[in-house]
Amino acid sequence: MPTRTGRHFLQIPGPTNVPDQVLRAMAAPTIDHRGPEFAAMTARLLDVVKPVFGTSGPVVIYPASGTGAWEAALVNTLSPGDRVLCFETGHFATLWQEMAAALGLHVTLVPGDWRRGADPEELARRLAADTAHRVKAVCVVHNETSTGVTSRIADLRRALDAARHPALLLVDTISSLGSIDYRHDEWGVDVTVAGSQKGLMLPPGLSFNAVSDKALAASKTSRLKKSFWDWAPVLEANRRGFFPYTPATNLLYGLAEALDMLAAEGLSQVYARHARHAAATRAAVRGWGLEVLCADEREHSGSLTAVLMPDGHDADKVRKIILERFDMSLGAGLGRLGGRVFRIGHLGHFNDLTLAGTLAGVQMGLDLAGFPVDPTGLGAALEVLRTG
Ligand SMILES: Cc1ncc(COP(=O)(O)O)c(C=O)c1O
Repeated sequence: MPTRTGRHFLQIPGPTNVPDQVLRAMAAPTIDHRGPEFAAMTARLLDVVKPVFGTSGPVVIYPASGTGAWEAALVNTLSPGDRVLCFETGHFATLWQEMAAALGLHVTLVPGDWRRGADPEELARRLAADTAHRVKAVCVVHNETSTGVTSRIADLRRALDAARHPALLLVDTISSLGSIDYRHDEWGVDVTVAGSQKGLMLPPGLSFNAVSDKALAASKTSRLKKSFWDWAPVLEANRRGFFPYTPATNLLYGLAEALDMLAAEGLSQVYARHARHAAATRAAVRGWGLEVLCADEREHSGSLTAVLMPDGHDADKVRKIILERFDMSLGAGLGRLGGRVFRIGHLGHFNDLTLAGTLAGVQMGLDLAGFPVDPTGLGAALEVLRTG
């Protein structure tokens, strides 16, 4: 490997760049997780974590990646053979529904083209047809990290309400929480699934379930097998400021710091910053003569942009050149998008000049990879940043 100078550009859509303040907070000595200092920290943390979810209800924190929190959402609320309705919005939605099937749920998958979010009208049709209310849960990935498409959760909620359908609404916000406007309580979400390593600006290793009263009630009768993921012992121990196992103490220090940073900036400002960076990125992509994968103007992601390469151009070659020449990591195309798209992460600890550097690297990489890139693309993005 050649000697590298300066910071690596980690522009994958998570894990994201961890701010120095957060790294410093995590470098504090590990304390007794059964002592009074820990209990005081946890009590505060369980409170200050709520606003980022838009909830006043409990948030369960696991020492696990996001996949664990997917499982927790399902096993705490559902029973073997329950019907769940999942939307095929991309790679992660596909993995979540595979997990649901593996856990013994009866999955109906609404097919998708991986360029659009979950369709509220299609949900309305499916619910209207389910007069016996056999569907027990609707699973949606808010921001599909594989496609850069954000589903309209408020509209999906409206479809559930209009149908007067009692299904639970389970939403994956792993790449939207702390980056894209999200309202667990207001949108009547029953379980919100989240992870530490994206908008929360932490390393991987923590994941979350925000839980509605209705989900909590469902957990009392759910019969899917669970032990580690069971909300009940966690919520019980949390009441005293503890966990029923050894928690990820130093990641919790980092979480406290990251939440303070988000609160200091203000969540609406955080969401506006991400939306502006996403708009500038799309200006660059279109200026270069390339296509943004997301096909619906209402559903562009604030946290990442997936770029579709034309036939005959290999997205992985572009990423390889950019990594080798400019020390920047971009997201690969996942699943059926492998080699066809690359993904620019613009979420988390990020500012105008980080984006400008990122887009400059992409523009040079496209050129070096042999794509006839229009160099006015970068200027178009800078104009959005300058004027916006
Ligand atoms: C939307 C989404 N859901 C689920 C996951 C899986 O989370 P993890 O890799 O932390 O287990 C990811 C990971 O990137 C994701 O982006």
